[in-house]
Amino acid sequence: MNEKIARINQLKKEKNAVIMAHYYVEDEVQEIADYIGDSYYLSEVATKIDADTIVLCGVSFMGESAKILNPSKTVLLPDGNADCPMAHMATVERIEEVRREYEDVAVVCYVNSTAELKTCSDVCVTSANALKIVEALPNKNIFFIPDQNLAHYIADKLPEKNFIFNDGYCHVHHAITAEQIKAAKAERPSAEVLVHPECKPEVTALADYIGSTSGIIAYSEKSSASEFIVVTEMGVMYELKKRNPDKKFYVAGNMQICPNMKKITLDKIIAALENNAPAVELKEDFMKKALAPMERMLELAK
Ligand code: 13P
Ligand code: SF4
Repeated sequence: MNEKIARINQLKKEKNAVIMAHYYVEDEVQEIADYIGDSYYLSEVATKIDADTIVLCGVSFMGESAKILNPSKTVLLPDGNADCPMAHMATVERIEEVRREYEDVAVVCYVNSTAELKTCSDVCVTSANALKIVEALPNKNIFFIPDQNLAHYIADKLPEKNFIFNDGYCHVHHAITAEQIKAAKAERPSAEVLVHPECKPEVTALADYIGSTSGIIAYSEKSSASEFIVVTEMGVMYELKKRNPDKKFYVAGNMQICPNMKKITLDKIIAALENNAPAVELKEDFMKKALAPMERMLELAK
């Protein structure tokens, strides 16, 4: 066994730690994870962990979510600078303004957001459950933060709701163009196009399947197609290929890389476990306030 992996296993035992990873991190990190999944799975599994320490291999909001759901545990982020820019693309001031303007508004917070934004929200969602949860809300007015693209995808399916949009976006998904998809499709006409809903509406319009990373992986196994154009961050290729060794997967461009997810390395996991740092630290009252919309999500998503 590789020396680094052996060291991680030894530290995991010593610290009673588990490693959780998102599908977008480097293959070698996905390989050693105890739990790997999409944002919803990572939140859900965090409620069932009985280890003392969680090493969250992903970006800050994922570590914060694990901490909010497990305030008494140590949650380590191997790289404290691995942050999702979209998580910051909404403001408390704007939420307050919308609440003043619309009496019955529900503030729906994509889990890809800071803990502070969660403290002022009514419910959290992930791409895997946003449609189900927004549909179940009694409110007509929905202020969806921070992602404009996921908001538009859900709004189109729920014409009975009045959406107030926010202008946040994921720079990785937002940069993918309809022209790139059309060119990839022209090269491989029999390939199915699998798109993440953080992509622009003109890109989701070209999809055979739209869903979260887990949804895309599950669809690839069910589909009778043998080729796929994958329109999300490239890290997901690791699981797609592992589950479908006889199928072929292509990307639409060469920019489908989230630089923050790629900051997580085996060396940083070792250092985090050795030093018990960087650990997610959030104020207690802050965690309590942010827990309410997270718990509501877990309840409504069941
Ligand atoms: P999901 O894995 O929940 O689809 O999230 C995508 C994403 O951008 C996470 O950062
Ligand atoms: Fe944020 Fe996009 Fe990276 Fe996910 S892929 S962490 S949404 S920048």
